[in-house]
Amino acid sequence: MIQISIATSNQSSMSVYPILEGKALTAAGKSVQSEQAIAHFLASGEHHGKYGIIRTIYQADARTVFIGAGDLGKLTLQKLRALASKVALKLNKNSVEAADIYLSELDIDGASLANKVQAIAEGIWLGLYTFDTYQTKTKEDKIQLTSVNIVIDGDESKAKAALDTAKAIASGTIFARNLGNEPGNVCTPEYLGEQAAALSHPKLKTTVLDKAAIEKTGFTALLAVNQGSDIEPRFIVMEYNGAGNNDAPIALVGKGLTFDAGGISIKPAAQMDEMKFDMCGSAAVLGIFKAITEMSLPINVLGVIPSTENLLGGSAYKPGDIVTTYKGLTIEVLNTDAEGRVILSDALAYAAEQNPAEIIDFATLTGACVIALGGQATGLMGNSDDIKQGLIASGQKTHDRVWEMPMFEEYQEQIDSKIADIKNTGGREAGTITAACFLSRFVDNIPWAHLDIAGTAWNMKGTDISPVGGATGAGVRLVVDYLQNKASDVS
Ligand code: BES
Ligand code: MN
Ligand code: ZN
Repeated sequence: MIQISIATSNQSSMSVYPILEGKALTAAGKSVQSEQAIAHFLASGEHHGKYGIIRTIYQADARTVFIGAGDLGKLTLQKLRALASKVALKLNKNSVEAADIYLSELDIDGASLANKVQAIAEGIWLGLYTFDTYQTKTKEDKIQLTSVNIVIDGDESKAKAALDTAKAIASGTIFARNLGNEPGNVCTPEYLGEQAAALSHPKLKTTVLDKAAIEKTGFTALLAVNQGSDIEPRFIVMEYNGAGNNDAPIALVGKGLTFDAGGISIKPAAQMDEMKFDMCGSAAVLGIFKAITEMSLPINVLGVIPSTENLLGGSAYKPGDIVTTYKGLTIEVLNTDAEGRVILSDALAYAAEQNPAEIIDFATLTGACVIALGGQATGLMGNSDDIKQGLIASGQKTHDRVWEMPMFEEYQEQIDSKIADIKNTGGREAGTITAACFLSRFVDNIPWAHLDIAGTAWNMKGTDISPVGGATGAGVRLVVDYLQNKASDVS
């Protein structure tokens, strides 16, 4: 991650100013508009302030960039984040080493200076993200962007605190993206366990159960899915006692399928490679732990990650099998490709047993969710209006958005089984909801919300703040904000 600082005045010979639709400038832009080259440029009509358009003016001793911010009335924090991403990428591409960015004085309805600084910094760090560790060709030795000053006119200490928050959130998001982008032959259950154990904080305790310990504890549903794989499963437990008291923790549970071929109910070949991303729920949980430990957030959080591959070995679980779970409920397996809910059953039952204040789970659970919501929103379901409302609000604020789907009790009938307690598929109709109904059987009466990130966890085309494509880190910004709100509620 490049260096980002807060400044109150010009520091380098490269300055970036916003220009609004109709060529309007903010105060900082106005302060340089009389310089000859800039005056010429502004008079030329070359830049009308259209959102996202970037133009550079070359002077003898300085360079000035104008980036179109569009119509001020339409500007949002997400548009600001995306603008910062765009300009950082452009500066990097043009071999600019250092720059002063004057985007924080754009007025955005309802946004404080701290909100804007956080969005700009997140945009820069996330926009510059790349995943190129496996490209062995030596890259041409090109100067890259190494430092940015966010120039502000306002409370410096608030801006600096916002920058620290952005840094923890970006580093958590990047951690999640890296885990997601690693290929399945590298990011195995064992690797996830090592990555979890490597997160360190004086108030964090991580336990990684290997196969023998999983057998001993009785996570039998996880073991059933693991039967088709030649590599061992892992069950990761993270206990972060940030509040330093005995308050019940918030439990975060993440699906850690390091590769999902579908098992005996094998998936089609097209895009099967993308099933390396089927551990993005666990990546979100690990990214959140990275962020909140970097922030030392005063809150207690329990992390639970079941991890395995879903393959087709000779011992693989089969359609028709009945699996007894850790909780004791039995599952009739009708489709081995509905494996996420099977392994989550043990993780949710374990989490519920720890008596958390609430449970939030993250899973790339259903193709149906991709069809319903696409890449723009994570599917939200659960039994607790409080958690759902909190997540909806955090989603709006962070633009890591969620959309609720109903869990009417009638949907539960779709997973009734004639010969076991429940079956692992409820048919094609309402596939995202019936998957959530399945999960609901394992959380008892603990307040719970389920996040189906199947459509949001990765994007092969790239997004405005994840231009390289691949894993997005969905869920990290969302739930870090949610936990920050929880932490400030109690203190
Ligand atoms: N990991 C998949 C869900 C998925 C598919 C996520 C495509 C993102 C893109 C999950 O394990 C799965 O295969 N679900 C099945 C369930 C079905 C068999 C009831 C699905 O959605 O097709
Ligand atoms: Mn599957
Ligand atoms: Zn899966």
